[in-house]
Amino acid sequence: MNIAICPGSFDPITLGHLDIIQRASLMFDKVYVAVLVNPSKNPSFTAKERMDMIKKAVSGIPNVEVECFDGLLADYARLRCAHTIVKGLRAVTDFEYEFQLALINRKLNPEIDTVFLTSGAQHMYLSSSFVKSIAQFGGDISDFVPECICREISERLSRRDEK
Ligand code: PNS
Repeated sequence: MNIAICPGSFDPITLGHLDIIQRASLMFDKVYVAVLVNPSKNPSFTAKERMDMIKKAVSGIPNVEVECFDGLLADYARLRCAHTIVKGLRAVTDFEYEFQLALINRKLNPEIDTVFLTSGAQHMYLSSSFVKSIAQFGGDISDFVPECICREISERLSRRDEK
């Protein structure tokens, strides 16, 4: 079985992430969407909240499973017998960081290859950080996140802003 991992912070999942997950699900027998810790980010949503939102967003895709893992991606790949990591590349600005991560992951687990999918043109400018900023200021995020979790994200972030 050809197993892939779509890793990320997903804080929260955007339509750009979902596009990559959907496309990966057509290429592999099984795709694990893994919510992992990015030490350089301070998430707004708990890992459980992020996982639950992703689960709602991918509920129609049969070969996709959502998990969280509090460790190295290289170890998680071993655990799930996955040999491929799938990531989206939005622009040249993503490249250096992703290139470095791909090399580190291969060093930590030589059985892993990282495959990059070009982001959909309509998602090139999209990021979870922008989505959060827009929602915090009461803006409309419906073009940027899956419809089934749009309200949840808006309410949660604008509520947080009132505190
Ligand atoms: O969506 P992001 O924040 O760009 O995803 C980055 C993520 C979470 C995939 C990356 O930080 C990661 O793999 N974290 C797990 C720890 C790890 O394996 N780090 C790589 C070696 S330093």
